[in-house]
Amino acid sequence: AIERTFSIVKPDAVAKNLIGAIYSRFENAGLKIVASKMVHLSRAQAEGFYAEHKERPFFGALVDFMTSGPIMVQVLEGENAVLANREIMGATNPAEAARGTIRSDFANSIDENAVHGSDAVASAEREIAYFFTEEELCPRTR
Ligand code: CMP
Repeated sequence: AIERTFSIVKPDAVAKNLIGAIYSRFENAGLKIVASKMVHLSRAQAEGFYAEHKERPFFGALVDFMTSGPIMVQVLEGENAVLANREIMGATNPAEAARGTIRSDFANSIDENAVHGSDAVASAEREIAYFFTEEELCPRTR
């Protein structure tokens, strides 16, 4: 089925000038960008986005990192977009990510791992709504 998923190019990858390289990975995988913007998260925004990880030991470091510089947030649309994006991202820990994936090629550590992608359609809907209004999502009819 055609799905939408939510994606972040994280501060490490923006700082390394990898926005275009990572967008090319999405496009080469057949995923269409239907919304996109650059934002510099406040602590409150980062804490809200990652609320499900609040009790995890890495939560403070995660919020520090995600507020350390601008990020790109985007909505990707395509056949099985949630899983397709997870496949091209690779495992959360770049040391475990398959060769040729975004994290294997561009990430240094589990904390600074270049990209985020929704893990399910339900979380994608929540994450998209956290950053975009319905009017900001552009239908891709061609
Ligand atoms: P992300 O998909 O953005 O969701 C939460 C982030 O926490 C994750 O990517 C990692 O960058 C970071 N993180 C740090 N340590 C861990 C860990 N042990 N397990 C999962 N995520 C972690």
